[in-house]
Amino acid sequence: MDTTKHEISVLIPEEELNKRIAEIGEEITKKFKGESVYLVCILRGSIFYTTELAKRIKLPMTIDFMTVSSYGAATKSSGVINVKKDLESSVEGENVIIVEDIIDSGNTLSRLLHLFESRNPKTLTLTTLLDKPDRRVVENVNVDYTGFVIPDKFVVGFGLDYDQRYRNLPYIGVIEDVE
Ligand code: IMP
Ligand code: MG
Repeated sequence: MDTTKHEISVLIPEEELNKRIAEIGEEITKKFKGESVYLVCILRGSIFYTTELAKRIKLPMTIDFMTVSSYGAATKSSGVINVKKDLESSVEGENVIIVEDIIDSGNTLSRLLHLFESRNPKTLTLTTLLDKPDRRVVENVNVDYTGFVIPDKFVVGFGLDYDQRYRNLPYIGVIEDVE
């Protein structure tokens, strides 16, 4: 692993992340009162957000994991999504909540949405910790719960990486000299 030191400045401190995640957890708890939910963590970036959010949702819950990569024409939401690791069980009839780290171009989430719609969940909810709206190329992605809207900067920490590094930072930081 490259161990070059980068200058990283704090964009969102740990306390703010946890406060906002607690709010989203409460909202989801209220929305699905009396029901169960099926949390889908999109690996690897979403692991920190998923675990913090899961602790704040006071409902019966399944936590499952998926690894995907999206490619193909950038502006076509019907473009290909490559599922490298799929869920362990069927989500038919479940209240599925897709948990993402960040929405950037929107390709990943819009394609995931298509995939999950074909699996007949009872409801489909999207949540992302971070949103970079300046970079969106797919316009029809309706995110239900957004943690923070951030400027067009490359961010790391709280699960997000730069070349697999910095996922373990407990805050969201910016590497100033990286595109
Ligand atoms: P999208 O398909 O362009 O919306 O891509 C979203 C994915 O790109 C995220 O799940 C991240 O893995 C990655 N990504 C986008 N922006 C950043 C960033 O600023 N830092 C780290 N990863 C990012
Ligand atoms: Mg990701």
